[in-house]
Amino acid sequence: MQISATGIGKKFNRRSIFREVDFSVETGEVFGIIGRNGSGKSTLLRIIGGLLSPSAGSISYGINGTDVSVEHLHRVMGYAAPYLTLYEEFSAAENIALYAKIRGLQKGSSDIAALLDRVGLPTDRKDPIRAYSSGMMQRMKLIFSILHEPPLLLLDEPISNLDREGMAVVYDIVAEQKKTGTVIIATNDDEDIAQCDRTLRVEGRA
Ligand SMILES: Nc1ncnc2c1ncn2[C@@H]1O[C@H](COP(=O)(O)OP(=O)(O)OP(=O)(O)O)[C@@H](O)[C@H]1O
Ligand SMILES: [Mg+2]
Repeated sequence: MQISATGIGKKFNRRSIFREVDFSVETGEVFGIIGRNGSGKSTLLRIIGGLLSPSAGSISYGINGTDVSVEHLHRVMGYAAPYLTLYEEFSAAENIALYAKIRGLQKGSSDIAALLDRVGLPTDRKDPIRAYSSGMMQRMKLIFSILHEPPLLLLDEPISNLDREGMAVVYDIVAEQKKTGTVIIATNDDEDIAQCDRTLRVEGRA
């Protein structure tokens, strides 16, 4: 996935968060968005993912030279962030089956078990994920971001709440994604930054 952003700015109400942000990202790259708390990393990541409109500037997307419109971006983009919410009353497998259905994907019980296994979650728990720990929830969110094998993977603070083994899971997914796709990580964590080929610092004021 190729992404090219020019003159991106964002205002909330009348308050400018950042302005004149330019960057481009190529297939096979891990691109980091860094900057202090409140600088606008998550905001920029959501703009890149088409989840939020920029106040200024534009972003173009392409896959192997073919343009992708922002309306179709959700099909080719996976997004994981700590603040996403899951269906707490459903089990892990039920959540995955539901998200797969929303995406129009066929995922049988063996596919679901493989996904749970990939992120190191138990495959045999039938209880609601409400009872899961924060690190286990974070692993569930990773599953949803890779469910449809998107060319573009956007990760906001991917290792938050994770132990060493959980971090290894994230970086394994990043390494796998890098083989054929693109990863953009919003983070302040040195270990995340070490995974990035390049970084962009957003200089917004909190
Ligand atoms: N929906 C919103 N409405 C109004 N202001 C917002 C909204 N979302 C974010 N902001 C503001 O935009 C600024 C940037 O927020 P953002 O979450 O992008 O920062 P961040 O760099 O990701 O911070 P952190 O390192 O804490 O995750 C903050 O001042 C925040 O209060
Ligand atoms: Mg953030």
